[in-house]
This record gives sequence, structure tokens and C-alpha cells, in this order.
Amino acid sequence: MSTLATYKNLFDLSGKRALVIGAGSGIGRAAALGLAAHGAEVICADLKQDSASASANAISEQGGMASSAVVDLNREQTVSELFDKLNSLDVLVCTPSINVRKPLLEVTAEEFDRVVGLNLRGSFFAMRAAGQQMQKQRSGSIILFSSIRSQVVEPGQGVYAATKAGTLQMVKALAAELGPVGVRVNAIAPGVVETPLTEPIKSQPDWYQAYADKSALGRWSQPSELAGAVVYLASEAASFVTGSLLVVDGGWTAIDGRFSPPL
Ligand SMILES: NC(=O)c1ccc[n+]([C@@H]2O[C@H](COP(=O)([O-])OP(=O)(O)OC[C@H]3O[C@@H](n4cnc5c(N)ncnc54)[C@H](O)[C@@H]3O)[C@@H](O)[C@H]2O)c1
Repeated sequence: MSTLATYKNLFDLSGKRALVIGAGSGIGRAAALGLAAHGAEVICADLKQDSASASANAISEQGGMASSAVVDLNREQTVSELFDKLNSLDVLVCTPSINVRKPLLEVTAEEFDRVVGLNLRGSFFAMRAAGQQMQKQRSGSIILFSSIRSQVVEPGQGVYAATKAGTLQMVKALAAELGPVGVRVNAIAPGVVETPLTEPIKSQPDWYQAYADKSALGRWSQPSELAGAVVYLASEAASFVTGSLLVVDGGWTAIDGRFSPPL
């Protein structure tokens, strides 16, 4: 029979090594801090060296274990080089994505390639490299960032939404392929989170408020509110969770938000 100590340690990541790609900003930074707070050694990787170092320093200054690395998910070679340096890897978190908000009929080939290139192709490079390492180890947890846009859309989100649905399907496929060797693969779907990615929306009060009103909780989330989902999927608490989409959206996708009847 399991003891209370077993349950108490469900979220303990002591002795685990985590790589967070996108750790320099927003949800990635919160994920890195959350994993470190639960005992993981965290490699904070980002396109921007300064941002990656700032996240690693923030962890180290508070007594956690962290280092930084530079990687460009648009360049396969840099992803290979980053993973070649790792002897072992228990957790991968991959966040980088971009959005070009405009009507589908106006999207250029260059814009399409840019969004798909980072969001889908870049995520693929990261999950493939982590999967190859973890397959050898026969353990590990891969956590990709999808979005509520993998489920529901609005005008101007066509290509971004396609990449987020595509990421989810890759997650499911890799979960199927690596399940037999004990590697788990999951996706997280945030709602609206106040980060640099959504800064253009925040600067338009009507748009910002409409998004706040859409969720059941009536507000945006902070990046720190995604850390719990990351720690959970990384940890033993999620030992039987794979191929899943963990929705952290304040109830956005549960309700249609058109009208609140006078009850
Ligand atoms: N913010 C939201 O409201 C929201 C909502 C739903 C889903 N998401 C998803 O969550 C994830 C994280 O979003 P965020 O808001 O934290 O984004 P963000 O823009 O704040 O952070 C992205 C990080 O990725 C890094 N990056 C960019 N290009 C890179 C590259 N080529 N190689 C390596 N790193 C690169 C950036 O330097 C930055 O540090 C994304 O996948 C996004 O689609 C965000």
C-alpha cells in the first residue's frame, strides 16, 4: 500500500534534469522557475542569450540549479548541437511560437512558412531530439505547448491555429510511439496569458477586455499560472498521463460566451 510519503513526493523533481526551450520569456520562464522550485536542474534555452541567462540567474539566485543555453528552433543544426551536449534528459518543455494575426485570404507564403516553421517544424525538431534521447533511457516526459486555438478559432488565427492543432496531433503520435518504452508526451493548452506574445492585444483595451470576459473566470492568466500544469506533467503525479491535452484556460473552451441569461 502506498504511504503518505509516497503521495507527498508526487511532485518532487529532485535529481531530474529539465530542458526548457523558450525559457527566456513568458510561460517558458515560469515553467523553468516552477520546475526548479520542485528540485529539478533546469537548462534554460532560448534564441536570446540574455533572456536565457536572466532566467537561469533568477533560479540560481534563489537557490535553485540552472544553466543557460542558446538555441534557434528554426535551425535544425542548433537543436542537434544543444541535445548532443546533454548526457541525460528527464523533462523537455518547448514553448516558442509566433502568431501573425490577419485574415487567411491575406496571409502570404512567407508569413505561412514563418509561423509553421517555428511553431510546427521547430517543435518537431525539439520533440524528435528529446524523444530519441528518452527512448534510449526508457524514461522521460515531453511537454509541448499547444493552445485553445487547437480547439476553437476566431478570425485572423487560421495558420496559428493549424500549427497548434498540428502540434497536438504530433504529441499524440509520439505518445503512441514512445509509450511502450515508458516515455510520456503531452500538450498544454493555455487560454489567454499576459506575455510578450499577447502584448499587441493588451495594448487595445476593447480587445483585451473581450478576452477577459470570454473565460469563466473573467480574466486573463499570468504565466505563473501555467507552471503547475508543467510541474504536474513532468512529475510522477502524471505517471499514467500521456497523449493528453491539459487545458488551462480559465474555462474559455467550456462555455460559448455569447450571452448570460437573466436567471
Ligand atoms: N500567451 C498566450 O496567451 C498563449 C495562449 C495560448 C498558447 N500559448 C502558447 O504558449 C507558448 C508560450 O507562449 P508565450 O506567451 O510564453 O511566448 P513568449 O513570446 O513570451 O516567449 C517565447 C520565447 O521563445 C523564444 N523564441 C522565439 N523564437 C525562438 C526560436 N526560433 N528558437 C528558440 N527560442 C525562440 C523567445 O525569445 C521567447 O523567450 C507558445 O507556444 C504559445 O503559442 C500562449
